[in-house]
Amino acid sequence: MLFEDTIRANFETEMSLIQRTILLALCLTHFGCTETTAPPTSTVSFSVDVMPRIDAGCAKSGCHDDETHAGDVRLTTVEDVTGIPGFVIPRNAAQSRLIHVITSTSASVRMPPPPWQPLDSTMIKNVITWIEEGASRTTSTYPIDTISVRYEHRIKPLIDLYCIGCHKRQVSGSGPILSTYARVVDEIRNGHFLQTIQHIPGYVPMPPGRTRVSDRDLDLIKSWVAHGLKE
Ligand code: HEC
Repeated sequence: MLFEDTIRANFETEMSLIQRTILLALCLTHFGCTETTAPPTSTVSFSVDVMPRIDAGCAKSGCHDDETHAGDVRLTTVEDVTGIPGFVIPRNAAQSRLIHVITSTSASVRMPPPPWQPLDSTMIKNVITWIEEGASRTTSTYPIDTISVRYEHRIKPLIDLYCIGCHKRQVSGSGPILSTYARVVDEIRNGHFLQTIQHIPGYVPMPPGRTRVSDRDLDLIKSWVAHGLKE
């Protein structure tokens, strides 16, 4: 599994490199333009490290989604994210409003606001790196390190991001508490955790609204389960 993931990721990286090179060559010979994509040494991917975080952290139901667009800010597409003046300033994370709000220690400024948890520090670091590297829309994937996935480091930040704003306490109806390792494991073993996040027909889709757990995060959760739910 690990091996397959590595091969696939290498293949995808190579494909995108080849594609980038061809595109750049075409671009240079036909239009005399300069490269706009990130250098291949980039350590973060827009599609893996940035957009799913903005989607889950900001565009959730009742916040910056199409229906509510709180504060007149909608953050459901790439165009939204890069189109708001000053929100993302390429190579200048310090002045970018996005970084200001996700790192703020003031409860009235911080996004996502309480009762949601702040974004995990690794997620924040990745968004900063993405902006400093030019805020390009790279779509590379990295292999998932299946064996070493642990709840504390890799899964809890995802639950904080996607679920905990509603599931800190018992939710009316059938909603379970998901604030500790034991609760989450119990819900996976005896409840409908895995069915709901995969939007399997017949189960309540979670999170409700348009936000979905990204494919990669889903893979991470599934491999954590397959490798014994390490704490
Ligand atoms: C916006 C609030 C909200 C968010 C975010 C949210 N949930 Fe829920 N969840 C609910 C509500 C409300 C219910 C009760 C629904 C019902 O009983 O009809 C529920 C029910 C559930 C159930 C029980 C479903 C069943 O059939 O037994 C599970 C499991 C669940 N949620 C998991 C999650 C997970 C995992 C996440 C994060 C990936 C999540 N939820 C995110 C509000 C939310």
